[in-house]
Amino acid sequence: MRLLILGGTWFLGRTLAEDALARGWRVTCFNRGRSGKDVPGVESVRGDRTSPSDVERLTGHGPWDAVVDTSVYEPPDATLTARTLRPVAGRYILVSTVSAYRNWPQQPVDESSPLWPSGRDARETDDDVAAMPVAHSYGTLKAGCEEAVQDTYGDSALVLRPGVVLGPYEYVGRLAALLGRAARGGRILAAGDPGQPIQPVDVRDLAAFLLDLAATGVGGVFNVAAPKGHATHGDLLDACVDVTGAPADLAWVDSDWLIEQDVRQWTEIPLWRTPPGTWAVDPSRAHDAGLVCRPLRDTVADTWRWLQTERPVPHERQAEHGMDEEKEARLLAAWDEELTRRR
Ligand SMILES: NC(=O)c1ccc[n+]([C@@H]2O[C@H](COP(=O)([O-])OP(=O)(O)OC[C@H]3O[C@@H](n4cnc5c(N)ncnc54)[C@H](OP(=O)(O)O)[C@@H]3O)[C@@H](O)[C@H]2O)c1
Repeated sequence: MRLLILGGTWFLGRTLAEDALARGWRVTCFNRGRSGKDVPGVESVRGDRTSPSDVERLTGHGPWDAVVDTSVYEPPDATLTARTLRPVAGRYILVSTVSAYRNWPQQPVDESSPLWPSGRDARETDDDVAAMPVAHSYGTLKAGCEEAVQDTYGDSALVLRPGVVLGPYEYVGRLAALLGRAARGGRILAAGDPGQPIQPVDVRDLAAFLLDLAATGVGGVFNVAAPKGHATHGDLLDACVDVTGAPADLAWVDSDWLIEQDVRQWTEIPLWRTPPGTWAVDPSRAHDAGLVCRPLRDTVADTWRWLQTERPVPHERQAEHGMDEEKEARLLAAWDEELTRRR
């Protein structure tokens, strides 16, 4: 197999490159050389995916059986790469997101759920897009990227919609924030219900599933998430405490009370999110097609091991994740008072 990755130096792209090389595939990675390093063994092509002449130059390094696009966020950029690469790449595999669903995270979603209406020419900087909340604009733009790729590639397009992705090389900072907090030990503010099912997928399982589908030439659309019942929020935090080894107690605090205190869901407390559809993504189509999810504890342990040896690629989103120590202590003291008051 000959594979082109648009990106390839971060989180999912890097994992894909490593897995594809391990399968004996020929791998080309196209990026600007700004963030991260290419995996040794790939053919590296430098360029900007938003530049028509750079993408045209890239075609000279083909042909490929498939192109994997992990790095597109605006529909016109997807149109450019899909149209330019069509003659030299047999299939186009787009990594989208469950945020493309209009009703996620409010309602359960499967692949037939409606998407955000997408503007095929939309850019993040357009007035109407810039006025949207970030989750909405991200989903709208990704839905537009899906359309752009499907228009050009038809049945040879494969679209994956992951929920939350965790694992080694994560730059977003979700699991790093939880592990960093666990490593400090002491009394840890844990949000909501320890029995809440969660569905994060390990980046290596997502990559393996994507490459398996690339090899067989399957097209269509797949949600990619762990099956319901795979793990709970309590399992996640217990694993963080166990693998870091610091003496720590989890203090579970009611979600409603935390919301009243204006604690930011999803970022200040990573993976805590209360809308009822958050962890109701139907991944059965992907599991029927071969997605296998490793135990969440392995994801947590391997991410902690990786964080001991390498810093994540710097990224603006990292600063959003985790709670200030003083605020956590203040909230825990206030929660203790609240419990006394309720008794
Ligand atoms: N994290 C999650 O929980 C989650 C959940 C659902 C879906 N997703 C999706 O999963 C994907 C994550 O992919 P990822 O982590 O591998 O990478 P990514 O963050 O999308 O892309 C980063 C890669 O693309 C390259 N790149 C960025 N801008 C470029 C440009 N203008 N021209 C050429 N190359 C460019 C970067 O290298 P240079 O900067 O050096 O160019 C880097 O190699 C995204 O599509 C995201 O929407 C993530």
